Amino acid sequence: MKILTSLPPAVDPNLLVGTETWDDAAVYRLTPELALVQTLDIITPLVDDPFIFGQIAAANALSDVYAMGGRPLTAMNILAVEACVDPSIPREILRGAEDKIRESGAIVVGGHSVDDKELKFGLSVTGLVHPDKILRNSLARPGDVLVLTKPIGVGIIATAIKGGAIKPGVLETALKSMTALNREASAAALEFGAHAATDVTGFGLVGHAFEMVRFGKIKARIMADKVPVLSGVRDLIKEGMVPGGTMRNQDHFGPQVRIDSGVSEEQKLILFDPQTSGGLLIAIPVESSRKLIEKLGKNMAVIVGEVTAGKGELEVV
Ligand code: CO
Ligand code: CO
Repeated sequence: MKILTSLPPAVDPNLLVGTETWDDAAVYRLTPELALVQTLDIITPLVDDPFIFGQIAAANALSDVYAMGGRPLTAMNILAVEACVDPSIPREILRGAEDKIRESGAIVVGGHSVDDKELKFGLSVTGLVHPDKILRNSLARPGDVLVLTKPIGVGIIATAIKGGAIKPGVLETALKSMTALNREASAAALEFGAHAATDVTGFGLVGHAFEMVRFGKIKARIMADKVPVLSGVRDLIKEGMVPGGTMRNQDHFGPQVRIDSGVSEEQKLILFDPQTSGGLLIAIPVESSRKLIEKLGKNMAVIVGEVTAGKGELEVV
């Protein structure tokens, strides 16, 4: 969910998570034991295959429910497509999305389409969470480590796909990552007592890490050389495959973050790379992080940073 309201924040005693902390989804309490998680995400195609595009869009939309510790319940499709397009394209997109929604245990209950020259697809997902078990983005504590559950570099890969410069092996690994659900990561974060979580999407790893610290009395440090990167990404950077969003993220978040002079230009491009269907960034006490990593596997969960006391600072070393 990107926050999209110019109105003053809504006030309602049952609105447990609104727009103030730039969290992943809104959470509204229905009963003392039950709250609704609501999110909406829509993206433009980053692969040629419409079925895989549908899968990525659904995994990406579901991710914001998982980032809140929620269980997805229902989903609605939102499709913008030119009326004259080959009908197999929208059909395959919807089939891909349904495949992932079904894998999540949720169901597709409807949707809406509009005539539009530029193809776009997304979903609004509704989930449930216990009001005491919400994984907010803003409650990391000193002594936590930051665990990332997917490698980054998707924006660079997507740029290379558009440029026709991608090797089949590199593409395959990236698609596997983007179509993977954050379900296990979310369940493990809840099971082992994570304090906070968010998913890494359009603002890149550094942008989303900054959102986690800016509202807390904490300081976080990202260790650049610990951050897992999709295979092939470093070669693609050398070929100039850097998306425009990376520069926008760097311009916006760069001045608010302290970046050590030892961090290379290449590492910076990776750390600010906008992700689609990225992993969860989980703040969890260091002792519990061992169990989390054991559960998810060393290849899927990697410690990339640490949290200390502070005033909302982020540094990258
Ligand atoms: Co989102
Ligand atoms: Co999110």
